Amino acid sequence: MAAAEFFELNSGASMPRLGLGTYKLDGPASDTVALIRRAIELGYRHFDTASLYGNEEAVGQALIDAIRAGDVTREELFVTSKVWNDDQPRAAEAFGESLKRLGLDYLDLFMVHWPWPQNGTFVDAYRALIDVRDRGDLVSAGVASFYEETLDEIIDATGTAPAVNQVELHTGFTQPELREYHAKHSILTEAWAPLGRGEILNDPAITEIAEAHDATPGQIALAHLLAHGISVIPKTANPERLAENYGALSVALSDHEVARLGRVQGHRQSKDPRQFPG
Ligand SMILES: NC(=O)c1ccc[n+]([C@@H]2O[C@H](COP(=O)([O-])OP(=O)(O)OC[C@H]3O[C@@H](n4cnc5c(N)ncnc54)[C@H](OP(=O)(O)O)[C@@H]3O)[C@@H](O)[C@H]2O)c1
Repeated sequence: MAAAEFFELNSGASMPRLGLGTYKLDGPASDTVALIRRAIELGYRHFDTASLYGNEEAVGQALIDAIRAGDVTREELFVTSKVWNDDQPRAAEAFGESLKRLGLDYLDLFMVHWPWPQNGTFVDAYRALIDVRDRGDLVSAGVASFYEETLDEIIDATGTAPAVNQVELHTGFTQPELREYHAKHSILTEAWAPLGRGEILNDPAITEIAEAHDATPGQIALAHLLAHGISVIPKTANPERLAENYGALSVALSDHEVARLGRVQGHRQSKDPRQFPG
């Protein structure tokens, strides 16, 4: 992959700009393994899973098979998993369990999956991930769906900004204030639901720009976020869309097109982390 296809994290690590999301990739393990092997053939090097997704074994099996087959090296891969809410009080053990299920020696990024502020354990969970990182089995500690107040709390408590905050973000819901906060603290913004779960792809701004580039709406939605320096992890179980989504890396939008996409009005597709899980 060309250097331009990576983002530099505040931990010093490089993260491929586009990865494969695996939420709901929960069919037969053999299908998940085959899809991930195909993704590696296409050029994907970044894979996003979580204990919640129930597929860490299959994801890890595919990666190990690909390494053994000589398709890729471990160093070329960027593997993310996450500690689920209930496990926040035992985040270090949960990391070890994810690592074991994946069958890997280390992870590139491990995240506190949601802040769940009502439970009062996210600061300790994040601190535990920093300790795990400092022990050497983890390259970067991150968070997901954190918002300004919860980011303030973990940074104040530990003196360490997370390498990445993975948040719901897509055309029509681009979280400009949160991204400004991230920029101030050198936190990389990663978009979950970067396709708006498919719900945003009929917007005329997206379809018209797609036509002008001989691209697909999905590629334009992803290229929009990439143009802003946002990492994207689209999920698909479909091998054709797997290739299509990777092709977003080759779409160069003009400033005018990026501005037009920025004016699309939309909304959250999923839960507000200030309320979830309550
Ligand atoms: N941190 C968190 O709490 C959190 C929450 C949600 C998600 N995530 C992560 O972010 C990843 C992506 O988010 P997401 O899966 O919720 O949503 P998404 O990637 O925006 O959308 C996935 C949906 O879009 C469809 N799709 C994929 N490519 C397409 C294309 N080119 N054209 C049209 N439709 C397409 C998929 O169906 P097919 O499979 O049939 O193609 C699927 O229904 C997840 O897989 C997960 O890794 C994290």
